[in-house]
Amino acid sequence: MAATATPALTLRQLRFSWPRQPAPCLDIAGFSVAAGERVFLHGPSGSGKSTLLALIGGVALPQQGSVEVLGQRLETLSARARDRLRADDIGFLFQQFNLLPWLSAIDNVLLPCTFSASRRQRASAAQPARAEAERLLTQLDLAPDSWHTRAGELSVGQQQRVAAARALIGGPALLIADEPTSALDAARQQIFVDLLLREAAAAGAALIFVSHDHRLARHFDRTVALADINRAASEVAA
Ligand SMILES: Nc1ncnc2c1ncn2[C@@H]1O[C@H](COP(=O)(O)OP(=O)(O)O)[C@@H](O)[C@H]1O
Ligand SMILES: [Mg+2]
Repeated sequence: MAATATPALTLRQLRFSWPRQPAPCLDIAGFSVAAGERVFLHGPSGSGKSTLLALIGGVALPQQGSVEVLGQRLETLSARARDRLRADDIGFLFQQFNLLPWLSAIDNVLLPCTFSASRRQRASAAQPARAEAERLLTQLDLAPDSWHTRAGELSVGQQQRVAAARALIGGPALLIADEPTSALDAARQQIFVDLLLREAAAAGAALIFVSHDHRLARHFDRTVALADINRAASEVAA
């Protein structure tokens, strides 16, 4: 995966406006993330970070320009093909974790393998997928006595590790994390970010990590301020 020269992400002449909003939210001439590159993207609340991630995930489509993910231009794909690309090749880590509270930690980690045959195959290449889920949880410092606890009963820090393992299972080539640390104190945030960086590197995955807190940036390959690539932001500020 890491060996491929295909960039994880290429944006070209991208323009996106939300319906009934007078000003464009995003206007990005060009931006790319290399295969395996780990990028820290920061910007204030409301600056369009989550919107950009929705475009990268193919959940929203731009009015103009192109979003190319792992060599595939999303605007040329059917909705079904975009769903498949997202399920097979993108690991999402959300601010609110989006775990299923009634499922155990381990069954939450295994969820992507039920939606994607290719993630299931990659997860179970060396050992059963369940053993791979356990390996990831161990790497992320979640003790075995929590593996069978329902996600709704775990602490915030534990839920976050489960969500990270779920994003990582089956080796998606692109990991997207949308402010996943905001519920943690500063020391725990840095520990979690370091774990995520290490696991992304081990998997050869590109990582786009979004936060409004640039103190977390120091161990990333590159730091980007959204305002520096988004011309819409300067229009609003001007
Ligand atoms: N579903 C939506 N419909 C309309 N406007 C939206 C929607 N989601 C976000 N916005 C607007 O887009 C702008 C950027 O929001 P967002 O991408 O959530 O920023 P951030 O993640 O940086 O906090 C805000 O002005 C917000 O109100
Ligand atoms: Mg956001």
